Amino acid sequence: MKIYKKEGNVLQILSFPEDNIEKGDYILIEDSKARKALIAQVIDIQFANIPGMLEELLRSCPDGGNIHGEDFDPLEIAPYITYIQDSRLLICKIRASIKNEYLSPSKSWLPSRSHSIVKKLPVSRLLEMIKAKGKLPIVLGETKESSPLIIDASSLDGRLNIITGKKETGKSHLSKLLVLSLVHYGATVVIFDLNGEYAGLGYSSDGARNEYYHRIHVLTPGKNFKLMLGQLDLRVMLNILVHALRLPGTSAREFRHIWKSLKERKELSLRALGETIRNWHCNIHIRDALFSRYYALVNSGLFTDNPSEASDIEQYLFKTREKGGAVVINLRDTSSIDRQIMVEYTLGKLVELLSNWRLKAVFLFAEEAHLYLRETYWDDIVTRMRHFGIFTTFITNQPDSIRSGIYRQADNIFLFNFTNENDLEAVSRAARVDAETVKSIARDLPPHHCLVLGKAVKDFPMVVKVKRLNVKTMGGTRLFFKEKN
Ligand SMILES: Nc1ncnc2c1ncn2[C@@H]1O[C@H](COP(=O)(O)OP(=O)(O)OP(=O)(O)O)[C@@H](O)[C@H]1O
Ligand SMILES: [Mg+2]
Repeated sequence: MKIYKKEGNVLQILSFPEDNIEKGDYILIEDSKARKALIAQVIDIQFANIPGMLEELLRSCPDGGNIHGEDFDPLEIAPYITYIQDSRLLICKIRASIKNEYLSPSKSWLPSRSHSIVKKLPVSRLLEMIKAKGKLPIVLGETKESSPLIIDASSLDGRLNIITGKKETGKSHLSKLLVLSLVHYGATVVIFDLNGEYAGLGYSSDGARNEYYHRIHVLTPGKNFKLMLGQLDLRVMLNILVHALRLPGTSAREFRHIWKSLKERKELSLRALGETIRNWHCNIHIRDALFSRYYALVNSGLFTDNPSEASDIEQYLFKTREKGGAVVINLRDTSSIDRQIMVEYTLGKLVELLSNWRLKAVFLFAEEAHLYLRETYWDDIVTRMRHFGIFTTFITNQPDSIRSGIYRQADNIFLFNFTNENDLEAVSRAARVDAETVKSIARDLPPHHCLVLGKAVKDFPMVVKVKRLNVKTMGGTRLFFKEKN
């Protein structure tokens, strides 16, 4: 391979088919005289455009322009010409330079075109160089060269992560892999599970309990999870009323008085709340507004006055403190309002427990968060909540449902295949990587392969085939024409 051209931080390298280079591969350019090297990544492969190539190709067409006669090749250059016809131009992005064994992001020097040695850099060697594998290794899967891609769990700690890609490419699968790895290292994980897929994390694929069984707690609102009003903070209740149930401000003020009076009398219960609203001296419109929200709360089935039915998320979260564990909030089959109530409650509780240090930190996994996370939470999650110790991973197949500001803040992006231009455009706004890399590589990713971007791979984008997981799969798409076997 030879360096041909450099424009900005794009290097063009001439290569031949036997070099066996593919998109996403890394190239090492060693300049022995300067005692420096460059690391570049191939983001596109083209045919080298050599003068006269079009004529040559036309001439070699089967009917060759109907020219009859024998090929006259006294210098025997025909094999060389076919060889040259196959020469390729590798479009590479410079990622880093190496000087005295040290990697630096500096890209300000130019290696020699005449004597630099250009060769493929195996991903396994690159991973060693960047020391991606730390004290808490997570094997994500295999690279193209069949070497394991290992990241460090601490590269997810305190970070904002995004897993995105088109439908059925393996996003939830990767997210389960990350959840189990974090639980393995003793972390507390909370999952907003929209499709009821994470309930099987405690079982292996044959249905037997696995080693995590006692650390996975699945809470289904309204079924094995109900709340007493006394467990709720007024602030959380008001958030539910105002944001999930759209209670106007004046009515919310009245509700505050009602709640406080009930609390003083130690009579906080659904029944007493209904009674008090009925007898409360206030404008009839306010009373109507309060009543309609009250019935929404009652109908959600999420609240109870019976202490034996009630459970508390706190007790499950505390169980995870010693050995780690995951609290799965199963939002399958819940209405959008109930979902929002549950999310308001959970986030309110998490902030409360974290701010008084009863929990150290929580990894929050949110599938399709735009379906239940209210507007004001997005910024909150990336700024305020992160300082409290809520580290979020968003999982979505609609990248435009996540605001571009969030992409810019993301520390790690796990990107599966996308073919749609708009989707690619949305993801490529991530500041941690250039748009060309994202667009060019993500478009060609096969299912279950993911491009890892960000801190986990020290900003060296890498493609990995995510490993299989021995957990029970649940929540698969319901089909009509299901194979009978
Ligand atoms: N790396 C993998 N190895 C083996 N099977 C996988 C892998 N990744 C995903 N699968 C399987 O492929 C199917 C789809 O995966 P998954 O549900 O994770 O996709 P998804 O991107 O979350 O889809 P959706 O957009 O519908 O949520 C599942 O049956 C899953 O078990
Ligand atoms: Mg999914």
